[in-house]
Amino acid sequence: MKKIFITRKLAGRGEALLKEKGFTVVVFEKDCPVSRTRLLKEAADADALITLLTDKIDREVINALNKCRVIANCAVGFNNIDVNYARNKNIIVTNTPDILTDATADLTLALILACARRLREGELMMRADKFKSWKPQLLLGLEMSGKTVGIIGAGRIGSAAAKRLIPFGTKIIYYDRNKRENFENEFGAKKVSLNTLLKTADIVSIHIPLSDGTFHLLNKDNLALMKKSSILVNTSRGEIIEEKFLIRMMKAKKIFAAGLDVYEGEPEINPDLLKLQNVFLLPHIGSATVETRSGMAELCARNVIAVLTGKKAITPV
Ligand code: GLV
Repeated sequence: MKKIFITRKLAGRGEALLKEKGFTVVVFEKDCPVSRTRLLKEAADADALITLLTDKIDREVINALNKCRVIANCAVGFNNIDVNYARNKNIIVTNTPDILTDATADLTLALILACARRLREGELMMRADKFKSWKPQLLLGLEMSGKTVGIIGAGRIGSAAAKRLIPFGTKIIYYDRNKRENFENEFGAKKVSLNTLLKTADIVSIHIPLSDGTFHLLNKDNLALMKKSSILVNTSRGEIIEEKFLIRMMKAKKIFAAGLDVYEGEPEINPDLLKLQNVFLLPHIGSATVETRSGMAELCARNVIAVLTGKKAITPV
């Protein structure tokens, strides 16, 4: 019987789908990242792995896979996997695109609005019983209408974010490696350089995958170009921003606010981030809806079933 190792209990029917096919499913039983030792042990006789973005699937793990045909990553991002090395070993890597696009774009909007309207400060004020009277100048935020949003990465999630932003009366500009004609036509968006985007946009939202080429794409030099009144939101990967410079800028009030769902070196959080008033922090929950997380697990299972029954993977990376 073929063995599938899943590195965590997942939402939805993914596990059940695999069992219905007669596979032996071993699920790491704790709700924390699987230890290296256990991962290497389970890898040895697994025909497939279902992994999370918290699992580092590097050469050592891939070398430990004696008969694995597919690694199904339960995430759209796959920077946790040495995909080229897996490919050299004839192991297919799959991810979960599309299914989490709407959920992640929804969360992007939530962060943008939370930053623009200072929701965090308002909520904290209520809980501290500090709302004693309506005030003409209490928690003045920024209006969405008329603002320019700079989308970094005009792919699936960037497009879904733009689609949600247009009804707020915003104008869209974008930075992407490629010219995205559909994006331009659908949102009346103009492609600009990264520096122009950072200089011009009132709201900057990041939607690119992490790779060697995008690591610290936003750094000391170009973060400094952002407007004092601007908002920066990141729902992709923390390492795209050189976080210590963002923190420095925020301490010096060089931008209005930041909304972060992802962090450099997460789940470790730079303690300085926690001290800032104008940053809204979430624990990497971009795709965390009941529907999406169930769909992601099921897509992983369907990818595994496809490969192990001799069919093409549904969403290979
Ligand atoms: C989440 O961050 C994902 O890549 O799916």
